[in-house]
Amino acid sequence: MKIFAVNSSARPQGQSKTKLMLDHLVVGMRDAGAEVEVVDLRDKDIRYCIGCYTCWTRTPGVCLHRDDMTAELYPKFLESDVAVLATPLYHFTVNAQMKAFIERTLPAIQPFFRESKGLIYHPLRGRHPMIVMLSVAGFPQRSVFDQLSSWVNFIYGSGGGLAAEIYRPLAEALVLPFFKDKADDILDATAQAGREIVQTLQVSPATMGRITQDIAEDNNVFLKTVGNLMWKTCIEEGVTPREFEEKGLVPRPDSLEGFMAVMTLAFNRDAAGDTRAVMQFVFSGEVEETCHLRIAGGRISGHAGPAGNPDITVHAPFSVWMDILTGRADGQQLFQEGGYSADGDLNLLMRMTELFGR
Ligand SMILES: Cc1cc2nc3c(=O)[nH]c(=O)nc-3n(C[C@H](O)[C@H](O)[C@H](O)COP(=O)(O)O)c2cc1C
Repeated sequence: MKIFAVNSSARPQGQSKTKLMLDHLVVGMRDAGAEVEVVDLRDKDIRYCIGCYTCWTRTPGVCLHRDDMTAELYPKFLESDVAVLATPLYHFTVNAQMKAFIERTLPAIQPFFRESKGLIYHPLRGRHPMIVMLSVAGFPQRSVFDQLSSWVNFIYGSGGGLAAEIYRPLAEALVLPFFKDKADDILDATAQAGREIVQTLQVSPATMGRITQDIAEDNNVFLKTVGNLMWKTCIEEGVTPREFEEKGLVPRPDSLEGFMAVMTLAFNRDAAGDTRAVMQFVFSGEVEETCHLRIAGGRISGHAGPAGNPDITVHAPFSVWMDILTGRADGQQLFQEGGYSADGDLNLLMRMTELFGR
């Protein structure tokens, strides 16, 4: 089986979640014996279709543009048995680069009007690859792909030309260390989807279920706390999300809920091992509230309010503790200088960086 995969994300390798998913799909496809070529549209010169219909009249099947689409991509698309169209979801559909690519496949159809079941359509000029649509989105709900799916089924599915649709919501979370286990399973399932497409030209419901599984315990809460804090921190620091990631910045909590969410995400269960501890935080200043974190069996949970019998209690101005949390201030130095105080098992204080190193 010859497969031609087109990635339309404008982001580079390492940042693009479309490419991340596509890479795994391709691993599975090659594993199952397919010959796969991957092309990144960001490296290609593709002009817009200008609607001249030269490809339907003067030179049937050949576009008048002289660019990478005419010279390289379109012939490879036509020769393939399966074409993977991989795109980030932009405004609930394919992005502009992918739309430009798809529009430039107009030479694949003929101008004549035919009728089937009361609907007028243009027939194919010759052979056309089966289509696999792959897309990733920022929003968490699976329904964000409804419009794209409806459109893709309309243009490719009606003649039986759509082999599979692979959609991953909340794709930005795939690279967060906290979600590594889930992300590994999602990416492993994507490779499995690649194998299944080569073997059966479809993806099983079980594999699809793994690809679209929820990544956070509560996606909406995750986005409303940590997601919003990330954007707020980007704006305050004047950095893009990519720079935020590269600089290893930490979202700066501005509420007790935000603090507990960030601490939960930062928790390193491997470092915690069999540690059992209750850590209480009594904040003053801009947030005058108390909360506690319970660590047991490699898991952590955050609770508003005081703990019955904490192993350690930290008394700190909220802004001071957030400076420490985000790496703006040195926790040990501030402790010695009396910037905050702690009572109980001070060994837990010493292990803070290790326990919350993620
Ligand atoms: C212009 C633009 C439009 C977007 N529109 C949507 C959208 O409609 N729905 C959504 O869930 N995410 C949307 N996103 C988020 C992207 O789909 C998401 O960040 C995705 O991971 C990007 O894929 P990439 O990393 O391969 O470029 C949009 C992003 C941009 C920049």
